[in-house]
Amino acid sequence: MPTIKTKHYSIVTGTNSLSSLKSFLSKNKFSAYFILCDENTLLYCLPTLIFACPVLGKAEVIEIESGEESKSLEICANIWETLTENKADKNALIINLGGGVVSDLGGFVSSVYKRGIDFINIPTSLLAMADASVGGKTGIDFAGLKNNIGTFAQAKSVFVDPSFLATLPERHYMNGLAEIYKIALVADASFWKQLQKAGPNQNAEKLVSKSISLKHAIVLKDPFDKGIRKILNFGHSIGHAIESYFLGSEQALLHGEAVVMGMLIETHLAFQKKLLSKEHLVEIYNELSFVFDVKPLTTINVSDLMPFIYNDKKNSKTQLLFSLIKKPGACTFDVPVTEKQIEKALAFFNAHIQ
Ligand SMILES: NC(=O)c1ccc[n+]([C@@H]2O[C@H](COP(=O)([O-])OP(=O)(O)OC[C@H]3O[C@@H](n4cnc5c(N)ncnc54)[C@H](O)[C@@H]3O)[C@@H](O)[C@H]2O)c1
Repeated sequence: MPTIKTKHYSIVTGTNSLSSLKSFLSKNKFSAYFILCDENTLLYCLPTLIFACPVLGKAEVIEIESGEESKSLEICANIWETLTENKADKNALIINLGGGVVSDLGGFVSSVYKRGIDFINIPTSLLAMADASVGGKTGIDFAGLKNNIGTFAQAKSVFVDPSFLATLPERHYMNGLAEIYKIALVADASFWKQLQKAGPNQNAEKLVSKSISLKHAIVLKDPFDKGIRKILNFGHSIGHAIESYFLGSEQALLHGEAVVMGMLIETHLAFQKKLLSKEHLVEIYNELSFVFDVKPLTTINVSDLMPFIYNDKKNSKTQLLFSLIKKPGACTFDVPVTEKQIEKALAFFNAHIQ
């Protein structure tokens, strides 16, 4: 069972990780357990969890509606109310059982309830396993902006059991794969080559372990996003703007779907800035558009995206700073970009995606 241990927490991956959770629960004394899940993880994942850790049969289960809309202040307030009504004290444990929505929301709720109580993540979607459940970023959407309110708070431990993926719908699997391709592109050329060679249908456990160890190594160097960690934002400045623009509408996109579009558009920005060769531009465009079902963005203009891009935490009112790829496996950050360049990159994207 591969385990990454740091001074403050551990990440256990593999099909036996729930047995590690069992011993974690018996070693650590908590006053009460609260399991946060959505209707899908309640149905498909909670029985497995309680079977593996019978002590959790006495946990209070807090169910939210699945989907990005639950990352809201209103849902936070509901959860804090439930915790308060159930007299959750400083020694209570919150168990986030779900995808990135549950871990972002549950991590945030825990990090401020009574000035912070312990939480653990049990990711059940590919995106949460490979990315969202590790690294300590928590948050909710606010005033129409993604992750506008949030904290840095590390889970006490993360238990990643890939068997949960058996019930994950295909669209959500591909959504998670987007962040796996991103980490390869920004941090590991040989992982990128491996993805190109073997395609998306590889052993999920290996893909998840590789992604976690790459992300973990970067987060350790820069836990608070002041420097090198910013490379993990590749594809996200534009991706978050696209996701925010469509948030709550009929055409709402999943996070990873927006990030794939963001990576493609930002790849052209890197080419315009002469950071990336034409050969690599073509390679990345061909690979991402072959693996992912990407659609052109013909109904929006650059002016629709700009308010969201300016509101991105990385940018100021006067300067747009992007993380841009130099070649597969290497990325740089804080690159100034203009609105004109974004417009050109969007036009290139629309011309090259069918
Ligand atoms: N904190 C971070 O570092 C970080 C990184 C990347 C993304 N994120 C955030 O993660 C969120 C997206 O996460 P997500 O894609 O996991 O979304 P999600 O939590 O909405 O899960 C996707 C869907 O899959 C369902 N599901 C989850 N596990 C399942 C299972 N085992 N079987 C059946 N259905 C299952 C959920 O109910 C949901 O409908 C976004 O809000 C994004 O901003 C956070």
